[in-house]
Amino acid sequence: PLSPADRAKFIAARGALSLVESGMKLGLGTGSTANWFVRLLGERIRVEGIDVVGVATSSRTADLARKVGIEVMDLDEAGWLDLTVDGADEVDPALNLIKGGGGAHLQEKIVATASDRMVVITDDSKLVPHLGAFPLPVEVIPFGWKATKAIIEELLEQILVGGHAVTPRYAGQEMFRTDEGNYILDLHLRQIGDPHRLSPLLNQVAGVVENGLFLGVADQVMVGYSSGEVHQMS
Ligand code: A5P
Repeated sequence: PLSPADRAKFIAARGALSLVESGMKLGLGTGSTANWFVRLLGERIRVEGIDVVGVATSSRTADLARKVGIEVMDLDEAGWLDLTVDGADEVDPALNLIKGGGGAHLQEKIVATASDRMVVITDDSKLVPHLGAFPLPVEVIPFGWKATKAIIEELLEQILVGGHAVTPRYAGQEMFRTDEGNYILDLHLRQIGDPHRLSPLLNQVAGVVENGLFLGVADQVMVGYSSGEVHQMS
């Protein structure tokens, strides 16, 4: 038996599964909601014998996809993708997102932007009027990361009013490492007034690889409810 939250994620994933057609090249997201999609896709391949290839956005997703019988390819091997299905940490009414709670936003953004379509699957707890209550993840190069952090703090000081904090992400005692071997800084901003202004400013800082704002990337959002309903935003 699933918890209501898990059932809502499952329902959203099942909704996105109906968009999959045989012959498609699919981007596979990362996180508990995307995992449902990967499992359901594996089941459809087994039951219906549809022919699809998957490009994973993390090593965790690649492992799960292979386990459930999906043929996994590198993005460069697969080329342009038809559809990417991924979760999110926050979704605003304009379909802008915060991602990277699982530390995979760099590969997620590369895969999503190399796709004809990106569909977000989520339960309604991720829907927000404004982005920013969820800490914004920023992937940084380990070399000189404390200097990078100081420059980000200075930048935030210049453009934001009110308190904010930048914290390095840990996995136990060690710094968290992304699949690319980088670190994550989490930016606690409370509310992001102008994400279109903030995103390029962050990415201009030397040492920053990519931030977790996905602006104008998602084409559609499928919101699952434990009742079994799916609401679509596009
Ligand atoms: C991974 O880095 C994130 O971008 C995920 O998409 C996000 O954390 C959603 O995960 P859940 O589906 O587990 O909430």
